[in-house]
Amino acid sequence: MATSEPEPTEQVSSSVPFVNCEDLVRIYKVADLEVFALQGLDLQIERGEMMALIGNSGSGKSTLLNILGGIDRPTAGRVSVNGRDLLKMSRSQMLRYRRDDVGFVWQNPARNLVPYLSVLQNVELPMLLAGSSGASSRRWATELVEAVGLGHRRHHHMVELSMGEQQRVAIAIGLGNRPALLLADEPTGSVDNANAQAILEVFQRINREYRTSIIIVTHDVRVSSFVDRVVGIRDGKTSVEFLRPASLTADDLGESGTDGAKAAHQEFVMLDRAGRLQLPQEFVEALGLKKRVRLVLEDDRVVVLPQAVGEGATEAAAVPGPA
Ligand SMILES: Nc1ncnc2c1ncn2[C@@H]1O[C@H](COP(=O)(O)OP(=O)(O)O)[C@@H](O)[C@H]1O
Ligand SMILES: [Mg+2]
Repeated sequence: MATSEPEPTEQVSSSVPFVNCEDLVRIYKVADLEVFALQGLDLQIERGEMMALIGNSGSGKSTLLNILGGIDRPTAGRVSVNGRDLLKMSRSQMLRYRRDDVGFVWQNPARNLVPYLSVLQNVELPMLLAGSSGASSRRWATELVEAVGLGHRRHHHMVELSMGEQQRVAIAIGLGNRPALLLADEPTGSVDNANAQAILEVFQRINREYRTSIIIVTHDVRVSSFVDRVVGIRDGKTSVEFLRPASLTADDLGESGTDGAKAAHQEFVMLDRAGRLQLPQEFVEALGLKKRVRLVLEDDRVVVLPQAVGEGATEAAAVPGPA
C-alpha cells in the first residue's frame, strides 16, 4: 500500500491504550471570542470496547469525535488511536488514517448515501473508489448488508427504506474499510424508538462479530443497556462514568430497559490526572456546600464535610487560599 513514504513518525508506545486522550483542549476562535469546546479532557478506551458518550448539547461530544476521526485537530493535549499519534500526523498520514483506520456514522444517514443507488451499491461504492476489486467488494458489501440486517433489502433504493434502515446502510458503509474504530455521532437522533433499538442492536452485533471498537455519542439514555460503559461529558471534560459490573451481561438486563440498565450500572465520578473531581450539583445543593469544604481521610474513604458556621474564619483570614 505505502509507496515511498518517509518513515512514519506518529507511532506511540504499545503500552498506550487503544484510544488515549490526555488533557485534550480544543479552542475555536469565533471573531474575537474563544470557545473552549474541550477543556482538558481525559479518556481511555480499550481495543474492542463499545462505549457511549453522553452529555448535553454543546458539551464537546462532536468536537471529540471529529478529533478521533481525524477530521479536526486539537489545540493542545495528547491523542492517539491504535498506536498512532493524531497530533504528529502529516496531512497525508491524516488522510490515510481516515481512509484506513476509522469509520464514521452521522446523525443524518443521507450524509453517507447516494439516493439513486441500491443498498448493496451504496455499500460497495466507497470500496471500489478505494481501489478494491469488484469481486472482493461485492463479497464484503454483501456480508455487511447481512450484518446490519438488510439482506432482504439489498436491491432496494434509499427512497424505499425507512430512516432507521438508511441508518443501518450508513453503518455498513462506515465498516467498509474494516476500521478498528467506529465513531457514531447521535446515530439514533433521527429515528423512532423501535428503529433506535434496531440500530443499537446492530452496533452490538458488529462489536461482537468484528471486535470493532465503537464510540456512540448520544443523549439517548436507552443506549446504556447496550454498552458496558457510559461516560458523561460536561463542559468539555469527562465528568461521570457508569460501569456495568463484570458479572452482569446484556442478557441479564433482558427487557428491563432503561431503569434496569441504570440500576445495573455503577456510577463513578471521574478523577482527573491532577486529582481533581467535580461534586454532583445535587450533592452540593443538598448540603448547601459553598466555596470551602473540609476533606477528611479515613481508613477507606475520603469524607467531604461542609464548613461549620464560624469554622475556619480566622485561618481563612490569616492564610488567603487560592481565589
Ligand atoms: N466549528 C466551530 N466553531 C466555533 N465553535 C464551535 C465549532 N464547533 C463547535 N463549537 C462550539 O464548541 C462547543 C462544543 O460543541 P460540540 O462539540 O458540537 O458539542 P456537542 O456535540 O456536545 O453538542 C459548543 O459551544 C459549540 O458551539
Ligand atoms: Mg454534537
